[in-house]
Amino acid sequence: MSLRLGDKAPNFTAQTSIGEIDFYDFIDGKWAVLYSHPADFTPVCTTELGRTAQLDEEFKKRDVKVLALSVDSVEGHLGWIKDINETQNTNVQFPIIADEDRKVAELYDMIHPNASATATVRSVFIIDPDKKVRLILTYPASTGRNFAEILRVIDSLQLTDNYSVATPVDWEHGQDVIVSPAIKTEDIPGKFPKGHKEIKPYLRTTPQPNV
Ligand code: BEZ
Repeated sequence: MSLRLGDKAPNFTAQTSIGEIDFYDFIDGKWAVLYSHPADFTPVCTTELGRTAQLDEEFKKRDVKVLALSVDSVEGHLGWIKDINETQNTNVQFPIIADEDRKVAELYDMIHPNASATATVRSVFIIDPDKKVRLILTYPASTGRNFAEILRVIDSLQLTDNYSVATPVDWEHGQDVIVSPAIKTEDIPGKFPKGHKEIKPYLRTTPQPNV
């Protein structure tokens, strides 16, 4: 059965471009992004892994460990990383899992046989420090993902875990947020002293509380 939001992310050990890792030890109580790509030495994947490396500081700022995966070998990954670094002007330091036996791909349901019998699709899992799955995305092979969106969701999750708010459409860090429907309007000033707007009784906004 495939994973769903709120499920515990299963642990695994795997060979990677930086050696063998145990997933839980690797994430070490931090947030994690685990994502798969169809194959090494392919153009869209080259740009995606390059972007991930370029965003290294952004992931670190948010306490996020990143782990990529394809069903290719460690040797393949190491050769390809050189190309990614050269063509995307970056330095890939995060591990890429060499899932040749598809153990992790099957555990996380990353192979969708009607899309490809052998290659992993573009899956993304955001996993929180309690190892719960908090976001699942699946993209087709021909569409590169938007890593700004992945960071945006992490910002939203980290904010909404700590405050009784939700984030509206297209929200970006620093913009107004929605007060949780569980909060009575008369209780808003005590909880959100920066002020609030009542647009409808069910739609109340407040400045982002932690900036
Ligand atoms: C790519 O990464 O460019 C790619 C991989 C598999 C199918 C199509 C494109």
